Amino acid sequence: MNTLTRRRALVTLGAASAAGAGLLPLNLLAQPVTAPALDVPYVPTPQDVVERMLQMAKVGKTDVLFDLGCGDGRIVITAAKQHGARGTGIDLDPERIGEARKNAEQAGVASRVNFEVADLFETDVSAASVVTLYLLPNVNTRLRPRLWKQLKVGSRVVSHAFDMGPEWPPERTDQVDGRTIYYWTIKEAHKKAAKA
Ligand SMILES: C[S@@+](CC[C@H](N)C(=O)[O-])C[C@H]1O[C@@H](n2cnc3c(N)ncnc32)[C@H](O)[C@@H]1O
Repeated sequence: MNTLTRRRALVTLGAASAAGAGLLPLNLLAQPVTAPALDVPYVPTPQDVVERMLQMAKVGKTDVLFDLGCGDGRIVITAAKQHGARGTGIDLDPERIGEARKNAEQAGVASRVNFEVADLFETDVSAASVVTLYLLPNVNTRLRPRLWKQLKVGSRVVSHAFDMGPEWPPERTDQVDGRTIYYWTIKEAHKKAAKA
């Protein structure tokens, strides 16, 4: 049982026993349980897909990789461990960020990576040379103007499973185990379009 499920179960359990004992006013029993309102549920990218995403982006020692919605941190950690990159993982769920930090320690790359609880729609990605995504089509589409505005020309964007809609066709695609990976680079034209 994860923390959110456990919290919900505890609240339900507490409410039932308190109501039974007549101890708490009903408006207190109706307090909402705070859970992050995720735009995408947590589903990890298989490791062979992670590795192909990093190969497609030619990730190397000079890169700064941001994974928006990083889950357990596997993309950022693999980029640091296998390619010598630095990286930041952003996730709205504190439980995922806790796992990612623990995984980075275990992989021996904690000094090269950083994990933050934050909303990907409020994150400044201008320091990134590579952005990785495993989100949903409507989330990618909403994110596209921020990527065009904030990323430098030449930065690479790689997405597992979902494209960016008709406004930004991918430059390349690849397949791993029946999964599609999409690849784009930021061009001067995107920066101009973002300013217009
Ligand atoms: C499909 S998982 C991908 C995890 C990881 N990138 C991977 O490929 O293994 C999507 C992640 O996005 C996170 N997420 C959803 N909405 C978010 C938001 N608005 N801001 C930041 N993270 C979010 C979820 O908690 C989840 O961990």
